[in-house]
Amino acid sequence: MDKKALLDDIEKNVKVCQKCRLCKTAKNAVPGEGNVDSEIAFIGEAPGATEDETGRPFVGRAGKLLEVLLAQINLKRSDVWIGNVIKHRPPENRDPLPDEIAACMPHLTMQLNIIKPKIIVTLGRYAMNYFYKDGKISRDHGRAIKTESYVVFPVYHPAAALRNPEMAKALKADFLKIPEVVEKSKVPPFSTGAKALPVPDGQMGLGL
Ligand code: URA
Repeated sequence: MDKKALLDDIEKNVKVCQKCRLCKTAKNAVPGEGNVDSEIAFIGEAPGATEDETGRPFVGRAGKLLEVLLAQINLKRSDVWIGNVIKHRPPENRDPLPDEIAACMPHLTMQLNIIKPKIIVTLGRYAMNYFYKDGKISRDHGRAIKTESYVVFPVYHPAAALRNPEMAKALKADFLKIPEVVEKSKVPPFSTGAKALPVPDGQMGLGL
C-alpha cells in the first residue's frame, strides 16, 4: 500500500475512535492533513472550535498565522503535513488529560512512521513535551533536538504568539531557522535514521 492509502486507513480509524471521552463532546475528529512526502511535519496540541467544526487542523486564527509564517520560508500549507497530538477537541479548549494523550498516541505515532518527516516542528509546549518530556518551551524554542526517533524543533504555539508580541517575535525568528534545520537533519549523526548518540540528558542541540 502507498503512503496515502495507509494514512487514509488511519484517518478512518481516527474518525471512529472512541478510546477516550473526547469523542463524546467533539463534533468532528481532526486527523491531520497535507503532503504525505513532506520533510517537515508541524504538530500542534489539539483542535480548537474552528477545527472541530471543519475536521481540519489549524484553520482558525492560529492557523492563519501559521500560514503567514510558512509563507516567510516559501512554503504553503499544502507543501507540509500538519497534525495534532490530540485528534478530538477538548471541551472549552481545556488542556488534554494524560489518559487522553495516551489514548490518542498510537494515531500520531503511526502517521509519523508512514510520513517519515526529516524534522518535526512542535507548536507549543504540549506538542514539544509529547516528543521530549524534559523540554521547557521558554528555554528550548528554536533549538533543534535529536530524540531517539526524530529531530524535533520546538517553537511557541501560534495562538500564544497572537496574545504576546514577544512570543510572536521569537516564533517568527524560529521559523526562519527551519530550512537550515531541515538541511542539517539530513547529515549524520542528526539524520533520523542515525542512532542517537549517548548524550547525558538525551538532548542534542544542533547549534541553532
Ligand atoms: N491549536 C492547535 O494546537 N491545533 C489546531 O489544530 C488548532 C489550534
